Amino acid sequence: MPYEDIAQKKLQSLKDGFILLSIESSCDETAAAILDSSRNVRSMAVHTQIPTHKLYGGVVPELASRSHVERIGEVVREAIEKAGITRFDIDAIAVTNRPGLIGALLVGVSYAKGLAYGLNIPLVGVDHLSGHIAANYLSHKELEPPFVCLVASGGHSHILKVEDCNRTVLLGHTRDDAAGEAFDKVARVLGLPYPGGPALEALAREGNPDAFSLHSEFNEGDNPDFSFSGLKTAVINLKHKANLKNELISSADLAASFQKAVVKTLVNKSMLCLEQTGLDKLVLAGGVSANMALREALANAARKHKAEFFCPEMKYCTDNAAMIGCAGYRLLLDGFRDTLSLDGIANFGEYSEHKQNQGG
Ligand code: KG4
Ligand code: ZN
Repeated sequence: MPYEDIAQKKLQSLKDGFILLSIESSCDETAAAILDSSRNVRSMAVHTQIPTHKLYGGVVPELASRSHVERIGEVVREAIEKAGITRFDIDAIAVTNRPGLIGALLVGVSYAKGLAYGLNIPLVGVDHLSGHIAANYLSHKELEPPFVCLVASGGHSHILKVEDCNRTVLLGHTRDDAAGEAFDKVARVLGLPYPGGPALEALAREGNPDAFSLHSEFNEGDNPDFSFSGLKTAVINLKHKANLKNELISSADLAASFQKAVVKTLVNKSMLCLEQTGLDKLVLAGGVSANMALREALANAARKHKAEFFCPEMKYCTDNAAMIGCAGYRLLLDGFRDTLSLDGIANFGEYSEHKQNQGG
């Protein structure tokens, strides 16, 4: 029987409790995980490329792809061994196929397709942002849609209404830089190492958040969209002007004031979306969810609005394969799979529904 027919038959026989291998390689982390239900992670393995990219102050796409090629085999093997299984116990594979660095995505997608074909098991492509949202299902076993979700990562800053694991409505988004991107760019100006977000947060702890009043006119109104490029440019200008005049300016104060402005914007826009939808659950996702100032401010604001607040455990905030596994598990149980023509997609456009490419 051809592979697609076998995979389709196996998809139909999958029952909760099956063993899933998930793979994430969309940016600078090669990661794999084993799950035995949508909310239970048996093992995780990761190879981070941060030391490589640190030398260049940001991710170098070609180096990222090469490193994924070199590491993916051992990372997958490690996840399988840690879970106490062999590759023949795996019932299905989920892999991030969009959005991300195309060369990096293709490594994970090709590896997953080869393994799915070799083992005669179904395969599903997962949207990286769905994965970030799903990280919350791993940390909060009781969490179910509908809810409002702020996804703040290095490439995206969206506020979504999550209706179910496969259906979302975009409520608001950044008109320019993503939150993580703005953190990274400002960190660079302040001379901090890559990745800038965590370094900027650490420096901000030593500064005065009220030292500089940074705000963007665009973020003031009742529009759920927002912008970070004005805040970023304001920091750059303050720093350059001080340099030109040979004046000392506190990088810690700049970091703290910038972080305060970003957090305030994300909190206000998230609250606006909660009010507009009438929902009573707010969820935070994406790499920037590791930021304690943002977590605390959103938790406080949600409490005032009598809404419940959820954010992932730290280990699931930044890129990992467990979150991709959680999203993929739900897709497979819902009867979605992709054929071996699954491809990597660098820009998936606006966040959208899973477009499955069902075979069989
Ligand atoms: O989700 P993620 O790991 O990768 C993408 O999908 O982009 O997010 C990475 C982004 C980077 O911009 C990083 O600087 C930011 O998340 N980030 C943070 C923190 N930890 C990671 N930003 C602010 N504070 C943090 N603690
Ligand atoms: Zn991510």
